[in-house]
Amino acid sequence: MMRRVDEYLNLNRANWDERAPAHATSPDYNVQGFIDDPAFISAVVRFDRPLIGDVSGLRGVHLQCHIGTDTVSLHRLGARMTGLDFSSVAIEQARALVARSGEDVSFVESDVYDAASALGGERYDLVFTGIGALGWLPSISRWAATVADLLRPGGRLFIREGHPMLWSLADARTDSLLVVDFPYFERDEPIVWVGAGTYVETDAVFTANTTHEWNHALGEIVTALVAQGLQITGLVEHDSVPWEALPGLMSKDDGGEWRLTDRPWRLAASYTLQAVKMT
Ligand SMILES: C[S@@+](CC[C@H](N)C(=O)[O-])C[C@H]1O[C@@H](n2cnc3c(N)ncnc32)[C@H](O)[C@@H]1O
Repeated sequence: MMRRVDEYLNLNRANWDERAPAHATSPDYNVQGFIDDPAFISAVVRFDRPLIGDVSGLRGVHLQCHIGTDTVSLHRLGARMTGLDFSSVAIEQARALVARSGEDVSFVESDVYDAASALGGERYDLVFTGIGALGWLPSISRWAATVADLLRPGGRLFIREGHPMLWSLADARTDSLLVVDFPYFERDEPIVWVGAGTYVETDAVFTANTTHEWNHALGEIVTALVAQGLQITGLVEHDSVPWEALPGLMSKDDGGEWRLTDRPWRLAASYTLQAVKMT
């Protein structure tokens, strides 16, 4: 029998390996847009820009970089970027993107918890991660330790992520009620999810459809970072996310952000957290 630790990594990796090529050809990720226009940046990073500020010259690592579109976007804003992901297929797609765009961005295949050794002990000015990343990790404390290992003293973490309040909601209701159905707090046991789809437009048919996921409370995330010697420098909650997280209940704005159609102020849908490593 597989040990649980291998089970979640194997199930989740198979899921992402299957979805990465479909995402790379989906109009929603718009890889061709990156090739056609060297100044093009992803909608996610466009949203981040007012909060992330000037990244030019920073040496950055993007954890759970997927097919590299946000990593390349940060490179286009002037950072020297490395992307890291545990899906070899996602990394192949990310490398194919920069081979076509001719940009100097490197990509490393690794479990996020092994990032420090996979990146050879390098320390970075910026650790960036976001949107659909933390829920794949069983322990937020281990993640925070990884972030601390990757930052130089004075280096900063920037994360924009789906809000744990959003992840706790039932997502398939027809009565438009927001109902808490999944854990808000981190638990040892994973949320076992079976879903044949993905969050972008695609005709691809998937077979690796079981995943193991976890929620992490906002307080747990902050506390884990503080315990690793990071000082929180910003925490902003947003009423929107860049995908239709609650199908049928959300409307899309011109910037590609989705929020509740009815009284969007009810829901913290995502957040941006920034922190600096003190010593
Ligand atoms: C939702 S995607 C991130 C999306 C990203 N914000 C984007 O749109 O490009 C989540 C990524 O996390 C990666 N991932 C999941 N678990 C991981 C782990 N344990 N270590 C490293 N990468 C992991 C997956 O392979 C996938 O590429």
